[in-house]
Amino acid sequence: MSVSGHIRRLTAVDIRARKGGDPIVSLTAYTTPVARLVDPHCEVVLVGDSLGMVVYGFDSTLPVTLRMMIDHGKAVMRGCQQALVVIDLPFGSYEASPQAAFAAASQVMAETGAGAVKLEGGVTMAPTIQFLASRGIPVMAHIGLTPQAVNAFGGYGVQGRGDARRHVMADAQAVAQAGAFAVVLEKVPASLADEITAAVDIPTIGIGASAGCDGQILVVDDMLGLFAEFRPKFVRRYGDLAQAAGDAIAEYAADVRARRFPGAEHVFSDQAPKPKA
Ligand code: KIV
Repeated sequence: MSVSGHIRRLTAVDIRARKGGDPIVSLTAYTTPVARLVDPHCEVVLVGDSLGMVVYGFDSTLPVTLRMMIDHGKAVMRGCQQALVVIDLPFGSYEASPQAAFAAASQVMAETGAGAVKLEGGVTMAPTIQFLASRGIPVMAHIGLTPQAVNAFGGYGVQGRGDARRHVMADAQAVAQAGAFAVVLEKVPASLADEITAAVDIPTIGIGASAGCDGQILVVDDMLGLFAEFRPKFVRRYGDLAQAAGDAIAEYAADVRARRFPGAEHVFSDQAPKPKA
């Protein structure tokens, strides 16, 4: 709360300062109602390009556009009062040059009012992170399994085993040195996540990484059991909303077919209600 009694929204600077402190709680959100649910419990709400799969039913995040990210970013901003809202830069909007990344990121921030952007990549993207961060755009980095590179990786496997370990460590050090305020570590061995967390001075946010990270993030639909198409090993299900929603919809359909819905309480009489005295 601020002195004026308003809730103060967390900033990238606040999140950066949480390094080594209480774990940072983060979830994705793509819509206003879900943003309202997660906001009171999270320090960071990510409008992830996972919305391509979760909301739009694509096979990957690659078809997600800047316009989609901005529109969902605006919806999430309307539902968040206190969490830092971070918006993913989608595939194709930032890789070509730091200038292209600045154009995309500044459009996202100006149109949505979000406090930061996230982009995928380590050593290769470090100059871009430096370019954005030094021009007033807080950047959350994302290394390890970077889903926008699914075609280069040949799938969604664990990254950083064996020889690849030192590359992921180099990625972490490069994004930290470039000025990222935090880094997502996705699907890397727990021992590597712990080593990176000890080696870099910015918070690490794990997903399929380690409980030793400075924070954790999950796709909200995964942890609610709403996105039931597949269940990654790193997801703990805290709900079974797909089952609950399916049951509710089946009950509605049965009620309509049996003329049990609408009930007397759901229909209107031809008399206008009497004004209250
Ligand atoms: O797009 C997304 O939701 C993400 C998280 C899984 C980190 O990048």
